Amino acid sequence: MNFRLSLFAALLFSAAASAAPDGPSLIKQGEYLAVAADCTACHTTSEQQPFAGGKAIASPVGEIIATNITPSKRDGIGNYSEQQFADALRKGVRADGAQLYPAMPYTAYATFTDSDIHALYAYFMQGVQPVDHASPETHLPFPLSIRFSMRFWNMLFLNPPGYQPDSSRSASWNRGRYLVEGAAHCSTCHTPRGFLMQEQQADAFTGAVVGSWYAPNVTGNPVSGIGSWSQQDLATYLRTGHLAGKAQAAGSMAEAISHSFQHLTDDDINAMAEYILSVPDRHTPATGASRFGQGQPYQNLSAFRGEAFTTPVADEGARLYSANCASCHGSSGQGSKDGYYPSLFNNSATALAHPQNTIATILFGVERNTAAGKVFMPPFGNQPNAINSLNDHQVATLSNWLLQHYGNNTAAVTPEQVAEVRRGGPVSPLVMLAQVGVAGGVVLLLVVLGVVLYRRRTR
Ligand code: HEC
Ligand code: HEC
Ligand code: HEC
Repeated sequence: MNFRLSLFAALLFSAAASAAPDGPSLIKQGEYLAVAADCTACHTTSEQQPFAGGKAIASPVGEIIATNITPSKRDGIGNYSEQQFADALRKGVRADGAQLYPAMPYTAYATFTDSDIHALYAYFMQGVQPVDHASPETHLPFPLSIRFSMRFWNMLFLNPPGYQPDSSRSASWNRGRYLVEGAAHCSTCHTPRGFLMQEQQADAFTGAVVGSWYAPNVTGNPVSGIGSWSQQDLATYLRTGHLAGKAQAAGSMAEAISHSFQHLTDDDINAMAEYILSVPDRHTPATGASRFGQGQPYQNLSAFRGEAFTTPVADEGARLYSANCASCHGSSGQGSKDGYYPSLFNNSATALAHPQNTIATILFGVERNTAAGKVFMPPFGNQPNAINSLNDHQVATLSNWLLQHYGNNTAAVTPEQVAEVRRGGPVSPLVMLAQVGVAGGVVLLLVVLGVVLYRRRTR
């Protein structure tokens, strides 16, 4: 790093650290970073015992248990040195030298500067209550169960620790990029993954499936992404999870906003919005219709008026909508005047080419808790608190009706797709390979050997 860059970096990131080398304000800084990094999302199971672990994190290769990271010497990270803590966060290596799975977002946290790691360490050692409670072991199918294999993965896909500022950009843009790529780990959900589950950097932020949900394209492209939003729009969405007439946050985005983003300072939220809106989508042209202006009001009450509830009608979607949704979203999908119940047209959830969010909203509902208030839509899957349960066939029929009239009429939903969303999303092809396992490996080896021998002979 040249002198100008390092001076720039120092100005950007070390103000808080140099003002308070230790003590309560260092712990406060660490706490703020832990909130920005949403450590609690995975490491807290019960609010009474923050960071005591035990939560199973669904991944396309199986469930991975987030461990106890309280300073308990017996069951947590109480014996971690600062260096070991830094290596867990930025290199994915546990104190005993074993590799962590990237379900722990160390590929993003690699971006943390030394001084921010120092503050996080102070917070976890001195600001968090130790909890003596062991978390269960993770069991993945062979050969993914071999943690050692992650070393090769890291060689290919893990960036070196720390943040390299871009001196041609403003301090706020750099602060935004530092947070987006690091603590806030937006790309772990919004960037599509390749065959080995790595984030595909050339397509950064162009949208990806995350479990049951779809994290949409959030590049600055005005057609494929959110380039039609102002910086203020994006800041409002990140703080409240709601942008009238455009988008709402449910699923994992609602959790990230409720636990994390809403608590960040205005300066940090604005910096993140500035950076995200500057990210290009290299593969999509910037002209055409965006997902925020699709669909129109529609109703078909005559389809079932006067029919007994058990008589099949031609437009079953209209009946399902009217019986389950119209009371809140309006008879024509227009929503409520105050916008609390959103319009289902001009809505990203129904206009995406990927219908997961329409399906997942019906099955799981919406739950969000921010300073702007509590937001709740009941689930229609068969959760214990569901007011009505719809089966896969009904959810598919209703989804297709919504997409047809209010959103993306080129997307089509099958009952199998609903079943997959209900189960928690697609499974990685890696698991199928793993199931072929040893036998597959032996066959592959024989094929490779065969090719080598054949080449020798024909030479
Ligand atoms: C998206 C989920 C997720 C988030 C967010 C997350 N972690 Fe983790 N973390 C995990 C999982 C899962 C594991 C266990 C991985 C494994 O067993 O390979 C883990 C393991 C760890 C470990 C290793 C502990 C041990 O078992 O010895 C440490 C330390 C850790 N996390 C700290 C943090 C801190 C600090 C933050 C916030 C800055 C954080 N994690 C945020 C999922 C997460
Ligand atoms: C844990 C996964 C996760 C993380 C982390 C995450 N997002 Fe999201 N995001 C989602 C999902 C899923 C949705 C879709 C929510 C919905 O429509 O109900 C979404 C929706 C959005 C939307 C609305 C887009 C639209 O068209 O509706 C924006 C903007 C957004 N995210 C920006 C961000 C930014 C910026 C960050 C980091 C500061 C971030 N997200 C971090 C999962 C995530
Ligand atoms: C009790 C009122 C209520 C009922 C009934 C209801 N909704 Fe909702 N719906 C809401 C609320 C509240 C939101 C979230 C608004 C927000 O996020 O700000 C919402 C959001 C949505 C969204 C956007 C979700 C996203 O991720 O962006 C869709 C799509 C939706 N509802 C569809 C439906 C469908 C289909 C039905 C019928 C099966 C239905 N709703 C029934 C209250 C309701």
